[in-house]
Amino acid sequence: KNKVVLTINSNFVLQFTSSSMGKDKVQIFDTTLRDGEQVPGCKLDTKSKLVIAERLDLLGVDVIEAGFPVSSPGDFHSVEEISKLIKNASVCGLTRAVKNDIEVAAEALKFAKHPRIHTGIGTSDSHIKFKFNSTQDQIIERAVAAVAYAKTFVEDIEFYAEDAGRTDNVFLARVCEAVIKAGATVLNIPDTTGYCLPEEYGAKIKFLKENVKGIDKAILSCHCHNDLGLATANSIAGVVNGARQIECTINGIGERAGNTSLEEVVMIMRQHPTLNLDTNINAKLLYDTSRLVSESMGMIVQPNKAVVGANAFAHSSGIHQDGVIKNRETYEIMDPHDVGVTESAIVLTARSGRAALAYRAKNVGIELDKLQLDKVYLSFLKFADLQKEINDDDIPKIVEAANI
Ligand code: KIV
Ligand code: ZN
Repeated sequence: KNKVVLTINSNFVLQFTSSSMGKDKVQIFDTTLRDGEQVPGCKLDTKSKLVIAERLDLLGVDVIEAGFPVSSPGDFHSVEEISKLIKNASVCGLTRAVKNDIEVAAEALKFAKHPRIHTGIGTSDSHIKFKFNSTQDQIIERAVAAVAYAKTFVEDIEFYAEDAGRTDNVFLARVCEAVIKAGATVLNIPDTTGYCLPEEYGAKIKFLKENVKGIDKAILSCHCHNDLGLATANSIAGVVNGARQIECTINGIGERAGNTSLEEVVMIMRQHPTLNLDTNINAKLLYDTSRLVSESMGMIVQPNKAVVGANAFAHSSGIHQDGVIKNRETYEIMDPHDVGVTESAIVLTARSGRAALAYRAKNVGIELDKLQLDKVYLSFLKFADLQKEINDDDIPKIVEAANI
C-alpha cells in the first residue's frame, strides 16, 4: 500500500494508507457461469456450479451471473439453486428482450436475496438489420418494453446493448436514455465482438457519461470480449472513463477467445494506486479460485496466463534469477502471496546461472562454496542440456557427478 505521510507540524504526523483515501469502488460482475460456460465442452452440472458460485461469493464478487434460465431446464434449475444458496452477491439471470424469457428468469431468481434481471437487445446496424430485420426506433421500443416488464418483477435491472462496441454512439446514447427512464439500474455496454481499441471503448463510455440524460441514476458496465486480446485493456479504459462495473470471468474463459479476465482487472486496479479504483475482491483467493474453475471445466490455464498461470511467478533465465534472489521486486511487480501463490519459483534450466543453482541446492540441504559451485555448475549444464528442467531429485546426482 502507498503510505502517505502528512506532516502538519514537527510534532504531529498523520499517517494513513491510500486505501483509506476514498478510492472509487468498481463492482465485479462475474459471468463465469453464464458467458464463461459457453465455452464448447465446458458445460457444468448444477452441483459444480453451486461449488463455484459459493467460491465466487467468498471471493467477494458483487454480482454472479448464474445463467440464462430460459435456455434449458438444467440452467433454470442451476439459477434457482444458486439463488437459494448465495448470501452476499446479487444473483443475476440473462434474458433476451422477450416476455417469456423475463418471466422465466424472474421465476428462477425468486429465492435470491438480491435478484437482478439482465435483459437486452442488439443495437448495432448489423444486429438491427440481420438479426432483427428491424429499425432503430423499433429496437428502442423493444428495449424499453423489456426493461419496464422486468421491473414489474425485480428492482435491479441491467440492460445490455449487444454489440455496443460497433454501435453508433449517438444512437447508443438514445437507447441508454430510454432504458434508464424505463427503470434500468445498470447499463451494460458490451464489446460483443472484441473489436474496439482501448481509446475507442474508453471514449464510448465517456461519451455516454457526458451525453445521456439521467446517467447518474445508473451504473455503466464494461463487458469486453477478447477476440483481439484487448478485453482487459478495454475494460480498464472503460473504468478510467467512468464505468463502475466490469463483467469478467475467472481465467478469462468465455465465448470464442473469451471474456475479460477477473484476476487481471482486479490486480491492475490494485497494483496501480494512481487509478484510484478498487474492488471488493479478496485477492488472496484468486489462485485457488482459478484452479477450481479450471479443474471443474477441464480447461487448463495457459502457463503464461497473467496473475494465475503456472509461470506467472517463475523465473528461469540466469539474469532474472540472480535479481529475484537478491530482491524479489527486481523482476516481480506483484507479491505472489497477494494472489494466493505460495512463492516465486526459481526454475532450473540450461539458461539458469550459478545463483539459481546455489539457491536450489541450499533448498535441498546442499551448501556449496564458491569453488564447489563452479564445478557443480559445469556438471549441472551437462544435465540441463539433456533435459528440459532440473528437479530437486536431480540436484544430488549433479553434485555427485561433479566429484567435489
Ligand atoms: O457479449 C455480449 O454481448 C453478451 C451479452 C448477452 C451481455 O454476452
Ligand atoms: Zn459476452
